[in-house]
Amino acid sequence: MKKIIVLISGSGSNLEAIAKACQNGSIAGSIELVISNQPNVKGLERAQKFHLMSNVINHKEFDSRESFDKALLEQILPVEPDLIVLAGFMRILGKDFTQAFEGKLINIHPSLLPEYPGLNTHQQAINNGDLMHGISIHYVNSNLDDGPIIAQGALKIDPNQSEAKLINRIHKIEHAMYPKVIEDISKGYISLKNGAVVYAKESHFSSNHMEFFNV
Ligand code: GRF
Repeated sequence: MKKIIVLISGSGSNLEAIAKACQNGSIAGSIELVISNQPNVKGLERAQKFHLMSNVINHKEFDSRESFDKALLEQILPVEPDLIVLAGFMRILGKDFTQAFEGKLINIHPSLLPEYPGLNTHQQAINNGDLMHGISIHYVNSNLDDGPIIAQGALKIDPNQSEAKLINRIHKIEHAMYPKVIEDISKGYISLKNGAVVYAKESHFSSNHMEFFNV
């Protein structure tokens, strides 16, 4: 059983999807710890609902990125995690941190990377009149929303739809794909070798995986 740590900052709907997949046994692992950099967020309530151990490390209590990362490390290292999952975690992690967990640190980002790294991805896609939008799941490196892509999911933008509706549709893709990627990593079907993603034949995914969702 793989030991998983999930880092959140907000609603935690991806955390919930992952917790369910651990509970029903599709992920060969368990969430040992949830860490939020924001107090009083819904994600912490969701952690409680699934009886997960959770902690808050409030970034506002630290005067530098390094000291925040150090506090994170102090919580993470004793757990000896096999995988650290960023699920709506809105802090940039320093190079020392990302290098320490290379190949064990994954992120989900709501855009078809390399389009729209950073914030406000949905509104940017709408404003630019894009036909497609989507999500990317990737190994984390020291650059923001960069790193080898594991899988992407896409949908067709309806130009008459609100941003809120688009976000809702994007979430459906995230909740379908993120647990599946974590399942494959937990079973050793996806890994990072020499900076490239390697897929076993048993994996749900393969290189350049782009799945279209009619959500
Ligand atoms: C997701 O859309 C994720 O891609 C982005 O932040 C959002 C988090 O949602 N990085 P939730 O907290 O999992 O509900």
